[in-house]
Amino acid sequence: MWGGRFAEGPAAVMREINASIPFDKRLWKQDVAGSKAHVAMLGAQGIISAEDVAAIDAGLDKVAAEYAEHGVTDDLALEDIHMATESRLAELIGPAAGRLHTARSRNDQVATDFRLWVRDAIDSVDAGLTALQRALVARAEEHAESVMPGFTHLQAAQPVTLGHHLMAYYEMVRRDRSRFADARVRMNESPLGAAALAGTGFPIDRQATAKALGFDRPTANSLDSVSDRDFALDYLMAASQASLHLSRLAEEIVLWASQPFGFVSLPDQWSTGSSIMPQKRNPDAAELVRGHSGRIMGCLTSLMVTMKGLPLAYSKDMQDDKPPVFEAHDLLALSIAAMTGMIETLTFRTDRMRAAAEAGFSTATDLADRLVRVAGVPFREAHHITGTVVKLAEGKGCALSDLTLGELQAVDARIDEGVKAALSVDASVAARASEGGTAPARVREAVAKARAILEAEA
Ligand code: ARG
Repeated sequence: MWGGRFAEGPAAVMREINASIPFDKRLWKQDVAGSKAHVAMLGAQGIISAEDVAAIDAGLDKVAAEYAEHGVTDDLALEDIHMATESRLAELIGPAAGRLHTARSRNDQVATDFRLWVRDAIDSVDAGLTALQRALVARAEEHAESVMPGFTHLQAAQPVTLGHHLMAYYEMVRRDRSRFADARVRMNESPLGAAALAGTGFPIDRQATAKALGFDRPTANSLDSVSDRDFALDYLMAASQASLHLSRLAEEIVLWASQPFGFVSLPDQWSTGSSIMPQKRNPDAAELVRGHSGRIMGCLTSLMVTMKGLPLAYSKDMQDDKPPVFEAHDLLALSIAAMTGMIETLTFRTDRMRAAAEAGFSTATDLADRLVRVAGVPFREAHHITGTVVKLAEGKGCALSDLTLGELQAVDARIDEGVKAALSVDASVAARASEGGTAPARVREAVAKARAILEAEA
């Protein structure tokens, strides 16, 4: 394609290090779409003849049909997807193919293709995350009243409802989706027409190609257009953050599925066995979601480090932009799908959760709160009295609610009859009805709001 200046072909290793076709063939649809938009514009602007436009356009359709049927060959001699497509086009339609690259460079071509690809990737991630939200909301509704221990420092803190816990992840996913949406808005500008770096002398119409490819507008600066990869970094940052959230949920599933917790059991479909220990039932999918998150963050680091030292405009280092994005996307898509499947099918062992919530003196705050509310005791003093009560229960090896009124009043006479009811885990969660709180009524409210949002989007 650029042999005019060269007497000899590249060394074999040169060919190998230079080629991106083994991975950038994934851009074939976007490459064909970009070329079709470009050639239509060249025709409309009178830069090439209507005859050539028709031949090139039909030829591109043919190449696309071949790719769809047989895949793209890994021919290193063709270097990248752009050259592969053009060379096949030339085989199919002859010399007219040579007019396609008028007023264009592979630099603006790859920037365009890759943006189109990342835009599609964002749309598919958004669909996946929406499905995950639906799963979380459905399970949250089912467990609006199920009581479990809420933890801080992984120590039983206060009882919460399982529905509330699941809705916490709904909120994280909501923000993750908004990060992808922000990235999509920012990146939706067309670099096509920036040519190699400086623009072109041909009377091109960048508005037309931008519109044809679904971009909001052309990019403003040709140098920036061919050297910017922050749209890919935006994607990777959003992907890293989303995977980080998935990883935390995965970690909870791993923890909850362990015998000492026993809060969930995974169905057969989502478990693996051990080749040596017949009793094992391992949460491998959750562990891999946790593991993949680290790899996705590695992809982000990889591209940041690739870009940080590059002067304007294009440098070949930038060819290495694609593998980390493809890898992160595949890992994220798989992680979202696996997490959705697990959430949909997990069995929550609400009996075990309730017992754990009851065991950890987790309603101690409710005793202190009641002393404040009913007897007007200052909170600090109530905290101290409650600490003494916890010590008493601990010494007797019983729950707070098992202590008799007499025993409680021996600690402080201001403790009243009604305290017994207030110390149950159900009373405790029901009391936490402040906005955003864990009370079943609040969870149902959050679920209804989430459903309304999801339905409006659908
Ligand atoms: N395969 C190249 C890449 O992905 C396409 C751009 C090549 N541009 C160039 N000036 N050699 O970056």
